[in-house]
Amino acid sequence: MKTINIIIACMVMLSACCQAPENAQTAENETIGTIMTRRSIRKYKPEPVSREILQEIIKCGIFAPSGENKQSWEVRIVDNPVLMEEIKDAIAAGHPDMPADAAKGCFRGAPVVAFIARDLSYPFSAFDCGLMAQNMMLAAKSLGVGSICLGRPVLFLTDNEVCKPVIEKFGFSEGYEFCLCVGFGYADETPQVKPRNMEKVKFMD
Ligand SMILES: Cc1cc2nc3c(=O)[nH]c(=O)nc-3n(C[C@H](O)[C@H](O)[C@H](O)COP(=O)(O)O)c2cc1C
Repeated sequence: MKTINIIIACMVMLSACCQAPENAQTAENETIGTIMTRRSIRKYKPEPVSREILQEIIKCGIFAPSGENKQSWEVRIVDNPVLMEEIKDAIAAGHPDMPADAAKGCFRGAPVVAFIARDLSYPFSAFDCGLMAQNMMLAAKSLGVGSICLGRPVLFLTDNEVCKPVIEKFGFSEGYEFCLCVGFGYADETPQVKPRNMEKVKFMD
């Protein structure tokens, strides 16, 4: 019995150190703490995020590294609930075969959404956009704002003709293609950490 208890205790300790990112190092280092405790948020409080805070988040986004410092992105921030609703309505109208709630839910209820486009002429622009998105999400986390990276709205807004005017309204420059969304807002949930596979990374000795 004693042996079984020791084995169980060891398993619990092992699983805790593999899964819980909130370890001693996290507690000591604010940046690591922010990275390790960020989660994709899929339930938001209705209250808006102030423009002042959004400006701070955007500034952190554009201070991300980019190939040749080309900053090969363009971003449109939608924080107007009326416009957000119009975009969701267009997605629902563009997908008549889907339940309207599912189509509209592709933004996961985020009250603010950044619509990001990439410069098609630059081969690394998708990376630039991804790095900028991550900078914004980490900045948001550090300011108490939840976030989520969203690919599905890109598919939903580009796979039909009904949603074309939405993209046109964003007025991205010629040669830019809408490629990613990031939702922001105050979290109304505390999601569990998702498992990560450390085996994907190997040191070459
Ligand atoms: C490129 C990209 C696209 C994503 N698209 C969606 C999406 O459309 N809907 C969604 O709910 N989550 C989306 N996610 C969030 C991922 O599901 C999430 O990051 C992953 O499950 C890990 O969870 P975590 O962010 O809480 O660590 C996306 C993430 C990335 C990086």
